[in-house]
Amino acid sequence: MFDCYNRRINYLRISVTDLCNLRCIYCMPEEGIQLIPHEQILSLEEIRDITKAAVALGVDKVRLTGGEPLVRRNIVYLVEMLSQIEGIRDLAMTTNGILLDQFAKPLKNAGLHRLNVSLDTLDPERFRTMTRIGNVQDVLRGLDAAKAAGFKTIKLNCVIAESPQEPDALAVSAYGRKHGFEVRCIRRMNIREGSFWTIEGSDGGNCKSCNRLRLTSNGNIYPCLFNDIHYSVKELGVEQALLAAVGNKPESGHKSERNQFYAMGG
Ligand code: 5AD
Ligand code: SF4
Repeated sequence: MFDCYNRRINYLRISVTDLCNLRCIYCMPEEGIQLIPHEQILSLEEIRDITKAAVALGVDKVRLTGGEPLVRRNIVYLVEMLSQIEGIRDLAMTTNGILLDQFAKPLKNAGLHRLNVSLDTLDPERFRTMTRIGNVQDVLRGLDAAKAAGFKTIKLNCVIAESPQEPDALAVSAYGRKHGFEVRCIRRMNIREGSFWTIEGSDGGNCKSCNRLRLTSNGNIYPCLFNDIHYSVKELGVEQALLAAVGNKPESGHKSERNQFYAMGG
């Protein structure tokens, strides 16, 4: 699929749930969050069918996100179904790693190719402060399990305030080098203010080469993280929603009324 600016759209990011087992301060707004009503959440079979339709239209790269994808019931079964779709050359997941100790092996067996794990600090107290409720040891155990399960590419996403030279980011980088995990520093964004940056070593944040569509867990397709326009697969049908999203993908992003990374998967 090509959009109006001649960008090839081949990447679908799927938020499988807006629920999360952490409460990161830069992700969850202080005033609390409005959860998507349970009855609106797509079934795993609906997610599979939407993915199939997207692949038929040229998507060959799929990433599962959240919220936290590992809190979605039967997530391993979804991975299994997606890994059987012919035409996906890259099937990845972004997770906070809290439940990875338990899920790494089943995910690998189900056919997941790659993992990105969020890790902003190694310091237990700072991790607790940043995530409001998390234990960094769970993530480190999860990363060990992912390595042991045989994942070849494990990347660490490290959200920074300003610079990759910050003490927390330096510590995460050193940890990554030691364990063979590639570290990518992502500057903290505020989508309401429209502040976002390109990310080194990734195709994110660069409008000119943006190849993405996003599917939310209630079946809306967003062509741009920094724009509120979206198309409902339930109202328009899957193919029409996909085509409308591609056809109306903005040339570049500005700001958004939403401030909901937790529902959009970053
Ligand atoms: N700015 C940058 N990255 C963010 N993430 C969540 N909120 C923000 C934000 N405001 C990141 C997480 C994770 C991914 C899902 O999105 O750290 O790596
Ligand atoms: Fe959860 Fe990720 Fe948001 Fe943290 S950044 S609250 S782990 S969705």
